[in-house]
Order: sequence, then structure tokens, then C-alpha cells
Amino acid sequence: AETLGDSAAQSGRYFGTAIEPGYFGEQPYVDTLNQEFNSVVAENNMKWETTEPAQGQFDFSGGDQVVGHAESQGMQVRGHTLVWHSQLAPWVQQLTGDALNQAMIDHINGVAGHYQGQIASWDVVNEAFDEDGTRRDDSHFQQQLGDGYIEEAFRTADAADPNAQLCYNDYNTDGINAKSNGVYDMVADFKARGVPIDCVGFQTHLSTDTDLSTYQQNLQRFADLGVDVHVTELDVGGSGTAQADAYRTVTEACLAVERCKGITVWGITDAYSWRAEETPLLFDGNYQKKEAYGAVLEAL
Ligand code: XIL
Repeated sequence: AETLGDSAAQSGRYFGTAIEPGYFGEQPYVDTLNQEFNSVVAENNMKWETTEPAQGQFDFSGGDQVVGHAESQGMQVRGHTLVWHSQLAPWVQQLTGDALNQAMIDHINGVAGHYQGQIASWDVVNEAFDEDGTRRDDSHFQQQLGDGYIEEAFRTADAADPNAQLCYNDYNTDGINAKSNGVYDMVADFKARGVPIDCVGFQTHLSTDTDLSTYQQNLQRFADLGVDVHVTELDVGGSGTAQADAYRTVTEACLAVERCKGITVWGITDAYSWRAEETPLLFDGNYQKKEAYGAVLEAL
């Protein structure tokens, strides 16, 4: 096949990208999106600060543009993200105890309920762990509600959208390390106790010097727990062959793990990347395919 999406589809997978509807007016942006990708995620538009800027007042305008575009093109949609300590609406930080717990439940019901039936997989909870494998202690949810908020979030999301796949998503969990061990133990516990978790997302924000020697093994050990795995936010700071090699390694690892459902890159063009100065994506600032693009297409 000649595009990323079509190539991924040959093995039943998707190849997606994060998008910002603010760029839909730029023709090469939309052309590249429609040509190459068969899945999308809102880079920012489904985050709490955007979807519920004031308590009980929901704004789905940006997220609806993302979903509308995807549906018009027959693309899947990933949902990102329901509960996260960052890009959180300021009013939430003022709440404590039961009021915070109820606000979390209402938020999940509001957002996952609005998109019910339209999201293939939700990042229900994002980045809840610290590098040492313990729970992240600078999260307002963790501080106020303790470990149990994650389980509560998954149970609430399951009721709000029973057909969506429910993922836990994090970064620096790409290899076997203390942080991924912490997530692994939580997922094993959830599976043992019947907490509704279906998948784990590996953000995979990399540099060319990231050690990827245990990347595939790590995906596989999670899959062996009985969850799907997704590469959710792939980008690789660098250029040329070193960058292409990292992209190839990640793509080959996903293809080698049966339960790896697909890969999402964190943007289309280097020009609009959150790491723009590191040129981490598959298309340069002029939407030209980079060496990394060729490596991914070949590996798919
Ligand atoms: C980033 C976006 O790319 C930026 O536009 C925004 O300013 C900050 O967030 N982990 C995540 C993503 O889960 O939501 C983050 O996205 C990147 C790190």
C-alpha cells in the first residue's frame, strides 16, 4: 500500500495522528491528513480545560470538529483525555474530597457521554505515575482522592460509553523500567479484580538516543495481561537515519505484538509540533515526506 493508513490496515491496524481543527483551513494540512491517516485524536480539544472550562458548562466545539472530520473521512477517533493533572480547568484545583470526586464523575459522564459511540478508545486517565513507579504526587486527584480515583474513573467511563475501549496512557513507560513496572502492577491488579480496563497507551515521545532494546518486550508483557496496547503519541526528536531507525523500531515492535492495535503520531508536520525545534515528525515544515516516513511505510 502507498499510504500509512492503508499499510496499517493491511494488518488490521490503524495509523493515526493528533490534529488541531484550527489548521483545517490550510489545504496541505488537510490533504496530508486525509491522504495518509485513518485515525485521529484531538491534540488539545478534548482536554478538561477545553471541554469544561467552568463547572457544568461544557464546550464540545473543537472536539466536535475533530470527530466530524473523522466521520466524513471514515477515520477512527481516539479520545484524549478524561482525567489528567495537567491542562486541567483551574476551578477543579479548588475542589477537595467528595466535591472533587463528584466533579470527576460528572466530567467523565459529560464528555464520554457526549461522544458515546463515536470513540474507538479513550485515554481515561493520563500520566498518573512518577518515574519511580509510585503514584504521581503532584496530581490534585492523587492528593485529594488517593489511589482509588483511577479505578473510579474507569468504572465511570465504562458506564458512560460501554463500547469504547478504555485505556491508561503514560510516557517514559516505553521500555521495561520502574515506571512501566508500576503501571504493569496496576493493570494486573485491575484485571484480577475486574476493573474495566481494555488497553494501555504508550506515548512514545522519544529522542534518537532513547534505549529501545526492551520496547517490544514491554508491549508484549502488557498484552499478555489481557489488554490491548497502543502507541499513542509517537514523535522522535532528531533527523535523518537515526530518527528513521527509531521510527522503524517502534513500528516493527507494534507489528510484532498481536494486541498492538495501531500507532498515532503526535502531529502531522514538524512546523506545528509541540517539539517543533526538534523536528520530531514524519513530514517536514513543507509537508515533504522525511526519511522517517519511508522507514515507517516500509515497516508497516
Ligand atoms: C501537548 C500538546 O501537544 C501541546 O499542544 C500542549 O500545549 C501541551 O500538551 N502528553 C500528552 C499530551 O498526553 O496531551 C501532550 O500534548 C504531550 C504530552
